[in-house]
Amino acid sequence: MKLISLIIFPVCAWMLSFTLQRTLGQSTLKTFSPDLQFDNYSLILKDQRIFLHSGEFHTFRLPVPSLWPDILDKIKAAGFNAISVYAHMGLINPSPGVMDFDGYRSLSALYEAARLAGLWIVLRPGPYINGETTAGGLPHWVTSQIRSELRTTAADWNAAWTPYIQAIIGQTKQSQISNGGPVIAIQIDNEYDQEEGGPYFAEIEALYRDPQSGIDVPLTHNDPGMLNAFINGTGAVDLYGMDAYPQGLVASNLSIWNPIEMGYHTYHEEANPSQPWYSPEFQSGAFDGWGPDATGYEDWRAVTDADFESVFYLHTWASNAKLVNYYMLYGGTSWGALPYPGVYTSYDYGAAITEARTLTKKYTELKLQGMFLRSSPEFCKTDWIGTTSSNLTEGAIVPTGPPSSPAFVTFLKNFDTGAGFWIVRQNDSTSLALSSFKLNVTTSGGERLTIPLIASSIDLDGRESKVVTTDYAFGSKSRILYSTASIFFAGSIDGIDTLFLYGDSNQEHEVALDLSGNATSTIKNDTHFQLSSNVLPSTTIITVKSGFQGLIPLYESNIQSIFFADKDTVSTFWAPTIAPTNSSDPFANYWSFGTNETVLVGGPYLVRSAVITGTELALRGDLNASNELQGTSLTLIAPTIVHSLTWNGERVSLESTENGSRIRTGRISNTKVSIPVPDLAKAAWKFNDSLPEVQADFDDSDWVVANHTTTNIPFPMYYGDGRILYGCDYGFCENVVLWRGHFNATGSEKSVNLSINGGAAFAASVWLNDKFLNTTFGNSTNNANVIEETDEKFDLPTNALLVGQDNVITIVQDNMGINEAKPVNDDAKSPRGIRGFQLNTGNFTEWKVQGKVGGYANYPDKVRGVLNEGGLFGERQGWHLPGFNTSSWISRNISAGLPSSEAGVGFFVTTFDLSMPKSYDVPMSFTFLEPMGQPYRMYIFVNGWMMGKRVANLG
Ligand code: GAL
Repeated sequence: MKLISLIIFPVCAWMLSFTLQRTLGQSTLKTFSPDLQFDNYSLILKDQRIFLHSGEFHTFRLPVPSLWPDILDKIKAAGFNAISVYAHMGLINPSPGVMDFDGYRSLSALYEAARLAGLWIVLRPGPYINGETTAGGLPHWVTSQIRSELRTTAADWNAAWTPYIQAIIGQTKQSQISNGGPVIAIQIDNEYDQEEGGPYFAEIEALYRDPQSGIDVPLTHNDPGMLNAFINGTGAVDLYGMDAYPQGLVASNLSIWNPIEMGYHTYHEEANPSQPWYSPEFQSGAFDGWGPDATGYEDWRAVTDADFESVFYLHTWASNAKLVNYYMLYGGTSWGALPYPGVYTSYDYGAAITEARTLTKKYTELKLQGMFLRSSPEFCKTDWIGTTSSNLTEGAIVPTGPPSSPAFVTFLKNFDTGAGFWIVRQNDSTSLALSSFKLNVTTSGGERLTIPLIASSIDLDGRESKVVTTDYAFGSKSRILYSTASIFFAGSIDGIDTLFLYGDSNQEHEVALDLSGNATSTIKNDTHFQLSSNVLPSTTIITVKSGFQGLIPLYESNIQSIFFADKDTVSTFWAPTIAPTNSSDPFANYWSFGTNETVLVGGPYLVRSAVITGTELALRGDLNASNELQGTSLTLIAPTIVHSLTWNGERVSLESTENGSRIRTGRISNTKVSIPVPDLAKAAWKFNDSLPEVQADFDDSDWVVANHTTTNIPFPMYYGDGRILYGCDYGFCENVVLWRGHFNATGSEKSVNLSINGGAAFAASVWLNDKFLNTTFGNSTNNANVIEETDEKFDLPTNALLVGQDNVITIVQDNMGINEAKPVNDDAKSPRGIRGFQLNTGNFTEWKVQGKVGGYANYPDKVRGVLNEGGLFGERQGWHLPGFNTSSWISRNISAGLPSSEAGVGFFVTTFDLSMPKSYDVPMSFTFLEPMGQPYRMYIFVNGWMMGKRVANLG
């Protein structure tokens, strides 16, 4: 008996370690097409593992397809290899039976631009997308015509989305990776609850998976939290993912930095261990709401700044995620009626690329991270070994000063190659203190080292995270033993194994490796550097002491080049992919698929592309003309065959640096230009009244009679006489809708009660004949104190009544968009319109309604689409369109406002010439010089496009 129990004990221990490590080095391969597989580690495209490093970009929020390549270039240049894109059913399928992929609605143009840029695409076509857009992306005809609950298996809802998804399939199947295109996954709907949505998901999935559809990429989903939705059971997707917004989306106290969430890795191991760990939306900023005290995007950018990216994004890597998408990488503009009522026009999002397409410090941090990921194929297949708080035997943190627990480490290891990734951060992820420590690692030799060996410590700034590497390969034949310096680039340039390290100049850094080849330069011991070759066998340790600034070759030979730069210097560097010329490979411009060739270029604001023809390197990129007018110095690490350089077609002379280094320098000259900015306050403005509806002779006989007595909008009228006055029931859903209620006055009418629903922060003004009565308005202060409907009594002045005649109550209603749908409620069927109407005595004889010309079924402006216009008289006449002849209008200064002292609607029109110099990209915006507070609303049309809505007392 004794013997048996002795045997059982080790067996149990062995089983325990087997369960914990059962997948170490093992994979669970799933194949979708020969070009697309995944296992428990990562996606495998064309037999290559990738870390899907992706940013969210909604092309409909930049309705100028010719600018999409600009965003894609910027994404690519930061080392990303993918984008994630919502398609907007409301724009693509604006009317029943109409599918429109023209202009900014195009998917094929996006696919081609992404392929040329070398970026994969995760397509997220809904049907429901949320995304702070009206009705969460559902068409307004759907929110008013479909009787049943949306996002269920109801037959009428199924009939509504089926043609749309079929059209998405039609646009996409030729652009999947298996057909030489960029699309690698399709998301089903958005953030849904499986119990409610399972059968509905199964219907969408059946359509994609029908062999006739030709779709062969994995179907994915984004769970809003650790809720296990759609992993198994009805409606399960192929690849599960989980969204994370760790700093929240409501800024109640921006000075509080939420700590990191510790549970991701364990959750993944329990939830979907046979799939790679996917974060389809990881926070990169936040949306912002109406209200004078709304947060503002610069504050959101500060809460989610480069420090946030460092700590939270590397923590996501530490959870062993291998597919990560940042929401949003470029936010853009919610122009026209795109926004839901919770947001205003700008969807800048505090993102790394601003609404004006400029690059921020957040972008630079993403570039450093992106270049590391792109350089580190060994990182695509790592096992999670443990953390400081688990029973990690190696990886112990050895403090070298206070605090006593200076850091937290997560150890990820590639068992195929032995490469180790030690992700370190402050123990308290919110700490602003500096910390210093050493780390116990085991390297390939099996030797336990406490690194760094020479430098005094690994240092972390407050809110900084780093990857310390061991046994890390670079180029074709070189391997680092360990590096506490971060890696910007590891690869091959000119057939030479090239490593570009960096680190903060106020910290110490150290790299240990076997230096090989015939040295052409080696760093000398001095105040900044120390070279130790006797400490480890056949390994040289190079220590960078604090205080060094600039770029320096640590070692160069015919086999290896090792460079170091401080963080500020490396931040100016770019590594454009150099595609083979005249290649027929559709993926020629994809890093590691079509090419592994690059040059390293320091200095410019942006390097978009590089081509080597013969001995000439042609770079294309951008300079910052606001502070680089004296010329931009350029640093180049390129193949020796390159003898000459052009920058945007202009020759730049190249100089060698001393001591035979491969580093060369040049200077790009910029020409100073002055950009004339029109002063719109002083421009010649033309004015016309846009509210003839309150004039006595106004004829509304061609308006739609609002006489429905039934509706599919599941909110009953509040009061009235049985008539339903919801604009969308008559085709008029968004922007301004006008109502005219007729009644015959007897003289005893004293007041009218109106309940008006326009969404958070809406407003409506009311007239009796030509007499202004009052304005009623909702509210939203940063999505708090929301009022989306009012119920008010409007007194009718006796002297304005036309006794014995037809009188008209005119309502000009400004709608704020349709609510988003939460799972299982029909919020997206908002009852925008007049929910109650009652005279104190007598009845309305007739109600008439007018929104944009043609309503959602027959609107004429197919270019700008269904969400651009509303129903103001001027819009119905086309006054907002370019070229409209205003010569008969009166001149009026815009700062004079409307002629009426009470209320009204007017159109101001001016034209101006931007006369931008050629090849300058000049971000411009409208600036309002008046303080906030005046109770007026303004729609700003630029060449007919409604590009801004101002509520002068709300934002
Ligand atoms: C997510 C949602 C996105 C967007 C985001 C907040 O939950 O999936 O569509 O709404 O929140 O910006």
